[in-house]
Amino acid sequence: MTQVIRFGVIGCGLMGREFASAAARWLHLTQTRARPEIVAVCDLNSDLTDWFSDNVPTVKQVTRDYRELLANEEVDAVYCAVPHNLHHDIYPDILAAGKHLLGEKPFGIDAAANKQIQAAIEAHPECFVRCSSEMPFYPGAQKVIDFVRSGDLGDIIEVEAAFLHSSDLNPDKPINWKRMVDVNGAYGCMGDLGMHVLHVPLRLGWRPKSVSASLVNRFPTRPDGKGSTVPCETWDNATITGHVEDDAGGFPLVMKTWRVAPGHSNTWSIKVLGTRKSAQFSTKNPRQWQFMDYDGGAQVWNVEDLGYQSRFPTITGGIFEFGFPDALQQMWAAYLDELAGGDANGFPCVTPQEAADHHAILTAALKAGIRHSVQEVVYAQ
Ligand SMILES: NC(=O)c1ccc[n+]([C@@H]2O[C@H](COP(=O)([O-])OP(=O)(O)OC[C@H]3O[C@@H](n4cnc5c(N)ncnc54)[C@H](O)[C@@H]3O)[C@@H](O)[C@H]2O)c1
Repeated sequence: MTQVIRFGVIGCGLMGREFASAAARWLHLTQTRARPEIVAVCDLNSDLTDWFSDNVPTVKQVTRDYRELLANEEVDAVYCAVPHNLHHDIYPDILAAGKHLLGEKPFGIDAAANKQIQAAIEAHPECFVRCSSEMPFYPGAQKVIDFVRSGDLGDIIEVEAAFLHSSDLNPDKPINWKRMVDVNGAYGCMGDLGMHVLHVPLRLGWRPKSVSASLVNRFPTRPDGKGSTVPCETWDNATITGHVEDDAGGFPLVMKTWRVAPGHSNTWSIKVLGTRKSAQFSTKNPRQWQFMDYDGGAQVWNVEDLGYQSRFPTITGGIFEFGFPDALQQMWAAYLDELAGGDANGFPCVTPQEAADHHAILTAALKAGIRHSVQEVVYAQ
């Protein structure tokens, strides 16, 4: 019998509505322990809550005050997708109300905010908490992960993880909250995109001991959308190089979080190069992954078309394409499976510990980038 988890959504914008869409087509998944039912929504923007009322028939409560939603006994779990400066206020309140939480990244605007969230998680062990990051649920990414886990890569030469956006190349794009330091955070593009590039490396146990970073702010001003130009102080691009220790003397972990990457609309990629085996995947070619087996002979990259081979089985035929809404739904399936007692079919969502580690890395990267130095990463555990 599939368990029903009743959800409240706080923040009904871009990501809040993506969750509604994933939940609405839960019948897409063929084997699930639990399914979400959205019963309550909260946003300051009534156009967005109206969208939920119009499109999600299970919604019974609509409010502008998230505390009212948290007081609703019919809400078991909350998806919180609000701007970064609100995470450290709202996430602890969600846990104090005894609700399970899938919180959006970066899980606090900075390391201090993340510490407040971690303290609330420790104070409420009865609540199940995970952080959002969906791109590694692409079948090609899962192939790379399984390939690495199978061992036998030889010594690792380099790992590169990237998330590249291009819309900020347009100087006429008006500023939004993601380009404002007080709302998005001093990390800039790293706070926005850092969890996406760190999810897989951290899951595979690659925690850099030290980092250097090159930070770029190519567009220091932007239109405000009302006819004026305003400062745009967030970092546009960050290229972070971490040093990961291993038995062979260590290897570089290169992480690119770029808002200004000409030609890339939403390219997430992972590349692992080893002395015996290598593998790579990019959402630029979403149905393919590439791998190389090197035994001293020719160095040939193999390219395999994957189609729809997801962690959680679906009604879609294996030859068809997989895309962003599918990755998002797979992430939600992993969250709900774990919440209902499963093992997320071997690939859980980002844990609070991983979110804390990502803050340790970004904090060091920000310092390294500003000072043009190499910084040790100070992990909490
Ligand atoms: N996982 C991903 O791929 C992904 C993609 C984009 C954004 N995000 C994350 O999702 C979060 C939200 O980003 P978004 O792109 O959906 O932003 P958005 O601006 O589209 O939506 C945020 C919503 O929060 C609402 N809000 C603000 N203050 C509120 C309050 N006090 N109470 C209730 N609602 C409030 C806003 O009105 C807005 O509708 C951020 O943490 C962001 O980093 C994740």
